[in-house]
Amino acid sequence: MTAPLVEANGAAIPALGLGTWEATNDACIAAVQWAIEAGYRHIDTAARYGNEEAVGQGIRASGISRDKLFVTTKVWYEDLSESNLMRSAEASLRRLGLDAVDLLLIHWPNASIPLKETIKALGRARRDGLTRHIGVSNFPVALLDEAVARSDEPLVANQCEYHPYLDQSKVLDACRRHGLAFTAYCPLGRGQLLDERAVVEVAERHGRTPAQVVLRWHVQQPGVVAIPKSANRERIAQNIDIFDFALDEDEVARISGLARPDGRVIDPSWAPAWDKAA
Ligand code: A2P
Repeated sequence: MTAPLVEANGAAIPALGLGTWEATNDACIAAVQWAIEAGYRHIDTAARYGNEEAVGQGIRASGISRDKLFVTTKVWYEDLSESNLMRSAEASLRRLGLDAVDLLLIHWPNASIPLKETIKALGRARRDGLTRHIGVSNFPVALLDEAVARSDEPLVANQCEYHPYLDQSKVLDACRRHGLAFTAYCPLGRGQLLDERAVVEVAERHGRTPAQVVLRWHVQQPGVVAIPKSANRERIAQNIDIFDFALDEDEVARISGLARPDGRVIDPSWAPAWDKAA
């Protein structure tokens, strides 16, 4: 099954992609290859994940033609000066074995490097052909507004943690206001959501798995893209097999009702400028 496209400021992003955080070496090569065989056309990686070579090998092993695939990578927060960002992007391309990525993101904001400089560098990376599109990740509303205002080139996505435990309506509204896609990482709450009664019951009603129901909850929301991570062939195939059923309003509301005050499943306290992000 292939995913429909989310249109965002000139980009067409497959609504379901493969997350690769913490997948490395042979397991990552296999996951990427299986995903492409199962119909995925969107693969997400990052310089920081240490798996760009493996992602590139998986892509080549699949035999898919480059223009059919949407590949995202990210620049780590320590590399956000103009020269470092360009160097980081070039190194990512070398590791991936690609001439350009489809989307280059700032992985986390960094208050100690002026956003103005970083956004300028990101625009340059696009103009120089290192990436077709640019965007950000882990940007809260105020920083996203600032990034959009400072950018001469369109930003197309803000990638953030998002799943039913974590209400992201403010960031989602800001993405929609600016025409960006909201890409949800850890969409399964790192697997923690899958035992929730509300999810299990809705899944039983549809004859689907809990993971499919949670991912369906994401992609039914306009402008939302989900990138579940799996290293298992069956689960990879299962996670994209979600475009032939729909949750009704009550089911969506029940699953959204799982939101809790601090619903994050990852701890962002190490991140620079996180207090600005709150
Ligand atoms: P595995 O790689 O063994 O499949 P998230 O994307 O929210 O970070 O969640 C990733 C976690 O969820 C991983 O531990 C992954 O394990 C597990 N996972 C991914 N897809 C499924 C699925 N369809 N059913 C159960 N667990 C899944």
